[in-house]
Amino acid sequence: MTGNDILLWDETLFKDLSVLEPDYLPEYFPHRESQLNSLRFALRPALRGMRPLNCLLVGPPGTGKTSAVMKMFREVEVHAPGVVAVKVNCQIDSTRFAVISRIYRKLFGISPQFGNRIQENL
Ligand SMILES: Nc1ncnc2c1ncn2[C@@H]1O[C@H](COP(=O)(O)OP(=O)(O)O)[C@@H](O)[C@H]1O
Ligand SMILES: [Mg+2]
Repeated sequence: MTGNDILLWDETLFKDLSVLEPDYLPEYFPHRESQLNSLRFALRPALRGMRPLNCLLVGPPGTGKTSAVMKMFREVEVHAPGVVAVKVNCQIDSTRFAVISRIYRKLFGISPQFGNRIQENL
């Protein structure tokens, strides 16, 4: 091993470290078109104000389940501004209140406790 093999403090092995972020969403998402179409079909009623179909995505870790759902959420936000897509990670939001709070925050931009305090002050 020579000194040239060692990375300096400002050097990295990675071209783009952001791909390792938990919420990274790739622009190019190959081999999932049929699954994305199934999700689009399930979501279609929501675009007409009706209840969408429930979906359960199964498969080994790292095969694109979360990414497929987040891609759908982006499409919904672009094409159906009246439909609000909320991601709830139940490992983080592990109580009923936490789940409802997450949805409330996405809908109203404030947490329910804070909203109540504002209402009390009115
Ligand atoms: N078909 C694919 N094309 C490009 N990247 C993919 C694909 N499937 C998964 N990935 C990438 O692999 C990583 C893990 O994907 P993720 O959606 O979190 O998997 P899962 O939810 O199935 O465990 C993410 O960074 C995602 O961008
Ligand atoms: Mg996942």
